[in-house]
Amino acid sequence: MTYKEQLDMNRIPQHVAIIMDGNGRWAEQRGKQRTEGHIKGVEVVRKIMENAVELGIKYLTLYTFSTENWNRPEQEVSALMGLLFKNIEEEVFIKNQVRFRVIGDIERLPAEIQAKLNKCMEHTRDFERSCMVLALSYSSRWEITRAARILADKAAKGLISADAIDEKMLSGVMTTNFMPDPDLLIRTGGEIRLSNYLLWQSAYTELYFCDTFWPDFNMEELCKAIYEYQQRERRFGKTGAQIAQENK
Ligand code: IPE
Ligand code: IPE
Ligand code: MG
Repeated sequence: MTYKEQLDMNRIPQHVAIIMDGNGRWAEQRGKQRTEGHIKGVEVVRKIMENAVELGIKYLTLYTFSTENWNRPEQEVSALMGLLFKNIEEEVFIKNQVRFRVIGDIERLPAEIQAKLNKCMEHTRDFERSCMVLALSYSSRWEITRAARILADKAAKGLISADAIDEKMLSGVMTTNFMPDPDLLIRTGGEIRLSNYLLWQSAYTELYFCDTFWPDFNMEELCKAIYEYQQRERRFGKTGAQIAQENK
C-alpha cells in the first residue's frame, strides 16, 4: 500500500512548511552544475504545490532563499534570481486557485522581481482554497529583529505600553501573521537543522527530516511525511492522558 492510501484525510495538517534542501548536491552527484539542481527544484515546487492542494493542505510555506543565501557565490545568487524571475507565473496559481504570498526582506530583491511578486500576490488575493507562501530573503532572526523594532517604535510613540506586549502581539507583527503556525515542518536533503527558518512559529511544530534531495521529492514522499505526522501525539506540554480525554 502506498503512503497516500494510508493517510487519514480528516487529519491533514493545515500548514506544512518545507525546507527545500539538496538541489546543489543532487546536481553535483550527476556531474552537473549546481544551477541544474535548482532548475529541477523549481519543477518540483510546481508539482508539490499541486499535490498539496489535492491533499487539502491550506498553507504551504516554502523556504526558497534565506538571508544567509545572499552570501553564496555571486554567480549562483544571480542564477537563482533569474530562475525566480522566470518562474513566478501567476497563470499557474490562477489555474489552481491558489493564493500566492511572500514573506521575507523583499526589498533586497531586484526591482523587477519585486514588481512581479507584487502583481502575482495582487492577482491571486481572492483565492481562499489554498495559499502558497515563498520565504524569500527570509530568516527568523531577521524577522524577530524586525518585530522587536516595530514594537519598540510603537512603544516609543506611546501607542502601546511595554506591559501590553504578549505572545499574541508579537505573533501579530511577524511576517506570518496571516496564517496559523506550521503543524508539520519537512526538511529534505539530509541535514538535521532549521537554518533560521520559522523559529518562533515552530515552537510546537512536528519536525520531519528525510535524506531525499529536493529534486527527487514527490507526492509519495510528501504523503510519507504526513503519514508519520499522523502517527504522532501532539501534547503541547500536557500529558498523554489529558490529550486522550480531550479527543474523546
Ligand atoms: C537548496 O538547495 C536551495 C537553496 C538553498 C537556494 P542547496 O542549494 O542548498 O543544495 P545543497 O544543500 O548545496 O545540496
Ligand atoms: C536552507 O538551506 C535554506 C533554503 C532551503 C532556502 P541551506 O542549504 O542554505 O542551509 P545550510 O546552509 O545547509 O544550513
Ligand atoms: Mg543546502
